[in-house]
Amino acid sequence: MSSHNLKERITEDWNWRSQEYTGRSDMYLQSEKQQRLWQQTLHGLISSQGERTLDILDVGTGPGFLALQFARMGHQVTGLDLSLSMLEIASEKAAQRQLNCTFLQGDAEALPFADCSFDIVANRHLLWTLPHPGRAIREWMRVLKPGGRLLIMDGDWTSRHLSRKQKLRIAMGHTLTFFTKGKIPWKGKGRGYDDMAHLLPFSGVDPGKVIALMEAAGLEEIKEYDVQHLLAADAESFPLAYRWSFIDSHRRFIVAGSKPE
Ligand SMILES: C[S@@+](CC[C@H](N)C(=O)[O-])C[C@H]1O[C@@H](n2cnc3c(N)ncnc32)[C@H](O)[C@@H]1O
Repeated sequence: MSSHNLKERITEDWNWRSQEYTGRSDMYLQSEKQQRLWQQTLHGLISSQGERTLDILDVGTGPGFLALQFARMGHQVTGLDLSLSMLEIASEKAAQRQLNCTFLQGDAEALPFADCSFDIVANRHLLWTLPHPGRAIREWMRVLKPGGRLLIMDGDWTSRHLSRKQKLRIAMGHTLTFFTKGKIPWKGKGRGYDDMAHLLPFSGVDPGKVIALMEAAGLEEIKEYDVQHLLAADAESFPLAYRWSFIDSHRRFIVAGSKPE
């Protein structure tokens, strides 16, 4: 499959699953405690930039999970995504919350921005969907201002490193979904990803691979941050089936690094 066709398939897939994905994304940040913890964590990750309004790019913004939070913190935010359906949802959410964000269509691996445009480039759950993660990280580095920070949040969504206990919980979660919702949760989530999986090197992203790519791109002061406090707080508002089949199972992480001055 050519690179162009692959991107078209990925775009079509995310357009198709945008509503279902947003439904799950909306389970986050339900309580004040969850919002406070997320904001404190994000604030800590960008605090090296000082107390000022920052230019922030959320790549693969989807329904705007990170973009909207950074905007609520008073920053100047651009959310970029391949999927127009996702961008429409993110724009609606920003309007409902009276937040000022710019949303635009673009490719995370070939950004439509000049060098050194942003103080922060952030992304959440994007890297595993990309055919060329190394190229993407070099692009994110290019658009960062000197001294700017790159934040990557992702996880290992495969079953490769799961213990028997974790696999059992996932099976229990799926069974519970089947009996309570009458649907098989692992069917119909996306149309394209199964047969594209071999073209996406990072279906299971581990922090070691991300750190290696960030080092290769020239970032420095790279560090992995713990996310257990966020997962525990997030889980409080999730239905049990979703907790079992998703939240409690997969290893997640945040890695951040800086562009040299
Ligand atoms: C798993 S969702 C994550 C959405 C959001 N960041 C979040 O935390 O909920 C992945 C998003 O990345 C977008 N995406 C996939 N490949 C992309 C690319 N090459 N460039 C820009 N966005 C892309 C998809 O359209 C989708 O909205």
